[in-house]
Amino acid sequence: TRIEKAGYKHFMAKEIAEQPVVIADALRHYISGGALALPEGLDFTSVDRLTLVACGTASYACLVAKYWFEQIAGLPCEVDIASEFRYREPPLSDRSWALFVSQSGETADTLAALRYASGKVAKVVSVCNVPTSSIARESDLALPILAGVEVGVASTKAFTCQLTVLALMALKAAADRGRLDGPALAAHLADLATLPGLMNHALRLAGDIAHIAEELAEAQDILFLGRGPMFPLAMEGALKLKEISYIHAEGYASGELKHGPIALIDARVPVIVMAPKDTLFEKTVSNMQEVMARHGKVLLISDMAGVQAAGMGCWQTLTLPAAPALLAPILYAIPAQLLAYHTAIAKGTDVDQPRNLAKSVTVE
Ligand code: G6P
Repeated sequence: TRIEKAGYKHFMAKEIAEQPVVIADALRHYISGGALALPEGLDFTSVDRLTLVACGTASYACLVAKYWFEQIAGLPCEVDIASEFRYREPPLSDRSWALFVSQSGETADTLAALRYASGKVAKVVSVCNVPTSSIARESDLALPILAGVEVGVASTKAFTCQLTVLALMALKAAADRGRLDGPALAAHLADLATLPGLMNHALRLAGDIAHIAEELAEAQDILFLGRGPMFPLAMEGALKLKEISYIHAEGYASGELKHGPIALIDARVPVIVMAPKDTLFEKTVSNMQEVMARHGKVLLISDMAGVQAAGMGCWQTLTLPAAPALLAPILYAIPAQLLAYHTAIAKGTDVDQPRNLAKSVTVE
């Protein structure tokens, strides 16, 4: 079947807009009657370590998942980009699992990393969008993300579907390892059920974001800051922006700003701070104030409580609905994607086919 833009100007716009629907599909697939319905064999009881390997956007999904597996399930995790993992030849325990995340399931480096891990770990698990792909076929256990065909080179709906499946896996790991009792697990699953609705809310920011993007399009450099699971989101926001608008962008951990990147800050550098009002909020705000003291133009992306507490003096603010901590990284992907999309539109670059990039990289 031919995939159409269905009235959207770009595949990327269509794929951003589809997220509430495809996330709902993924949730329906993996949650049944209010309980987790993950594949047989996904039992984390005796797993001692998880090694997550991917490239690009999928590697940022892995970095978010590390926070979840470690904090919710108490399961130690390592995250590697595939091209480093395979040549470093890391020692792997036979009680550990290796987890490969790939939209296409054909990325050469990720596939080679999988083949390296095969036979050295207790189980090779994959999270792919293409269920018939090499990576899915060569793993012991393959979890489809059900995002549907993704055409835009810059990954959007695959990223949030990867995160959704990884969140469900982390909850399963927590339950298997005695870290989450029945009612607590049910509460998380009920939270996840609200995600499509929250995403629909976030999508309504498109107009405000298009307006902000007109100014971002003038920038030479843009910094993204986040803490905790928002740190990988900051890196994903920067990657999205550079992929399609060709503006230099970097994602940094808020707390690391003072160890280098703060030297870049002046009135010409927009700094995008992704900070829901969570337990780390105050810390991020103090990093944000360091930026403002150096006349950096701050765009604060937070919820109502966060914008009320710290929005004063910011160049711009964007208000998302308040969300449970587990959902925040998935929800905050939407403004990151929309910022990149609208900045690219303002610059007039080719959103769906950015220069020098390929959707699926099957060479090393
Ligand atoms: C390419 C794409 C990226 C993607 C990466 C990994 O570089 O341009 O958007 O994140 O490959 O792709 P995969 O299919 O393995 O998720």
